[in-house]
Amino acid sequence: MTKTDAMLLEDKYVLPTYGRFPFVVAGGKGHFVRDDKGVEYLDLYGGHAVALLGHCPEPVVSAVRAQADVLLFYSNLVYSSVRTRAAAALIELCAAKDAQVFFCNSGTEANEAALRVARLVTGRPKVVATYGSFHGRTAGSLAATGIAKYKHAMTSAESDTVHVRFGDLKAAKAALRRDAAAFILEPIQSMSGIVMPPRGYLKGLEKLCRKSGAVLIFDEVQTGLGRLGAPSAAQAFRVKPGVQSFAKALASGVPCGAIVIAPELVHKLQPGALGSTFGGGPLACAAVEATIRTIIKGRLWRKAKALEARFRAKLKHPALKEIRGKGLLLGLVLDRPARELRDHLVERRILTGLAEDPNVLRLLPPLTIGEAEVDRLAAALKEYK
Ligand SMILES: Cc1ncc(COP(=O)(O)O)c(C=O)c1O
Repeated sequence: MTKTDAMLLEDKYVLPTYGRFPFVVAGGKGHFVRDDKGVEYLDLYGGHAVALLGHCPEPVVSAVRAQADVLLFYSNLVYSSVRTRAAAALIELCAAKDAQVFFCNSGTEANEAALRVARLVTGRPKVVATYGSFHGRTAGSLAATGIAKYKHAMTSAESDTVHVRFGDLKAAKAALRRDAAAFILEPIQSMSGIVMPPRGYLKGLEKLCRKSGAVLIFDEVQTGLGRLGAPSAAQAFRVKPGVQSFAKALASGVPCGAIVIAPELVHKLQPGALGSTFGGGPLACAAVEATIRTIIKGRLWRKAKALEARFRAKLKHPALKEIRGKGLLLGLVLDRPARELRDHLVERRILTGLAEDPNVLRLLPPLTIGEAEVDRLAAALKEYK
């Protein structure tokens, strides 16, 4: 790739984190983004799984504009009606009557908060997680804090976490000893390469956690909000976790994370158990409310189901061994490195994602796509040699 001046400048000033697509994004609308030369790309990577309603969805943009005119920010020190409405919308979407919401700013913070809740309500130190899950990048932030009163629910994060094989109930049972505060997992492992839970696994975990007293935490940062063809993974798999964590699409691109805490845990938490300056701020909450109300009003999760069927029917290629996943969280399993196909598709102005499994191409498209977009991907796939 020959880099343009704009790309070279970014390389100079911004620490490189991710491998970037070979263009400079200048704008986006619906399921398309355009570069600084006006070239349009079909975004089947959904802006890193954030643009579940597409880019710049009108109801969210309007709500953010209106809120920006009224109040950009005040913290949780004051009551806020927009925060109340955002929390109520999330609880309604999750069908989690009598649950409560804690707002933060990202997925990793949501998971930190979920783990903290589990440690606080159980009084136990250990966390059980699964190999192949991704939960965020801040594990050490609280360990580094130097004020004792904030550290009562935290021990050294690494040494208190054990990992077990995803899908293995026997291993989960052995790990959920009496000192386990939580079992945390992605109900479908996305980053790994869209790894599905074996039938009965999630329900089995729910039972094991209930028996052992550990809190089951569903990291719904990618699976939540309708992408799976149900309003949440918990509903898709008919499981009742103690805590669900959300981020990414929650505010359609305004940074926001949240956890939904089941009623039986809420009453064990003291005021001040969790906190955040920016979490639950009015701008983010206006975006959350508009995002979730749009999803509920259109029952948009039903679209994910229908589109999954079309992807499965239309995507055909000798290199395509299997399509894994559910709804619009899909992994194309190839008999060769997925990067080649990803690059082929970028040349045809279609964005898709890679995974830890080098042979898996991930699709995380907005719920706004239609049959034409599925068919465009199918046609581009046919041209792949
Ligand atoms: C399942 C899952 N959990 C947590 C995170 C962390 O979210 P954030 O990058 O907003 O901290 C991610 C991010 O990709 C994720 O995919």
